[in-house]
Amino acid sequence: MTKTNERSIRKDEHVRYVLNQTEKNETDFNRVHLVHHSLPDFNLEDIDLSSSFGVINWAVPLYINAMTGGSEWTKDINEKLALVAKATGLPMSLGSMHAAIKDPSVESSFSIARKMNPNGFLMANVGADVPVEHVHEIIELIDANALQIHINAAQELIMPEGDRQFKNWKQNIQQIINTVDIPVIVKEVGFGMSRETISSLLELGVIYIDISGRGGTNFAEIENLRRKNQEMDYMQTWGQSTVISLIESEHFQKNAHILASGGVTTPLDAVKCLALGARAVGLSKIVLERVMNDGVDNTVQFINDFIYQMKKITLLTNSRTLKDLNSTPRVLSSELENWKTQRMGNDDE
Ligand SMILES: Cc1cc2nc3c(=O)[nH]c(=O)nc-3n(C[C@H](O)[C@H](O)[C@H](O)COP(=O)(O)O)c2cc1C
Repeated sequence: MTKTNERSIRKDEHVRYVLNQTEKNETDFNRVHLVHHSLPDFNLEDIDLSSSFGVINWAVPLYINAMTGGSEWTKDINEKLALVAKATGLPMSLGSMHAAIKDPSVESSFSIARKMNPNGFLMANVGADVPVEHVHEIIELIDANALQIHINAAQELIMPEGDRQFKNWKQNIQQIINTVDIPVIVKEVGFGMSRETISSLLELGVIYIDISGRGGTNFAEIENLRRKNQEMDYMQTWGQSTVISLIESEHFQKNAHILASGGVTTPLDAVKCLALGARAVGLSKIVLERVMNDGVDNTVQFINDFIYQMKKITLLTNSRTLKDLNSTPRVLSSELENWKTQRMGNDDE
């Protein structure tokens, strides 16, 4: 089998396994409580959830996160996702695009997104080992407004055919940042981030970080299912949840723009992410499921309802803007407090 075929099959398998994944991983969203206020200072129409961070300005703090491309089937999915993004105004990321450089015949599975949504905010996506000289080509392919670099060491190590070499990642990320003139977002793929990782990213000059935590799409489970033996199935709870990753990021939120994704399925989850300091919230699996099962129009309706309900919840915290939400009181469960104490102690660093 050629490398190209292998890659296309892998991409199709990822989508298939994600759609079949039913096991729920702990999200920790139920361990964060927002405080309800009964006398709002605002009307629903006053609520403004626009989000501006760095050079990015989004009308709503929600985006369709990186998923797919690289095969005929996933071209069709990207076309549908792009139509949803266009109709809702949501920014959208493509799945890992290195495949398009290795095999130009799959380029259109990515460029279809720009074709369908000429004026939308599109993000290109590459791995941390992508050769710097290919990055511009990848950005041009979709005329990207931002570039995501995924750091997925856990997935690679659990994947039988995955990478085993990682120590050049930091240098490569730094080189990419120095070469491109659009925002570069470094993201996880569902294993979450530690404060140490975030601190290293800041040292490299990264200021946009998607902590993409555990609790939703689970690549440890998917990679275990893709092979014949279940050799590493004990790793399926590895990583930090989205909530814990946000807690880990708290100290850096003044210097970095933190985005949240991983296991967000309700408007309440999304608002909790914003209250924990995220500038915007990424949705992957839930949008993929909707678009595949219910079609484009129903997914557009779903997202518009999602945003409307986020506004209602924001109002109940007596917040009007994202800035207000950031300082709204929230109460953490003893498990989360325990994590915080063990990791941060009294040191406010
Ligand atoms: C089918 C599928 C494929 C994915 N492929 C990529 C990818 O190519 N690059 C990437 O950065 N993240 C990829 N992800 C990870 C998502 O961007 C996101 O970080 C993760 O799924 C957690 O969000 P969720 O729980 O809402 O799905 C993929 C996710 C799914 C569901």
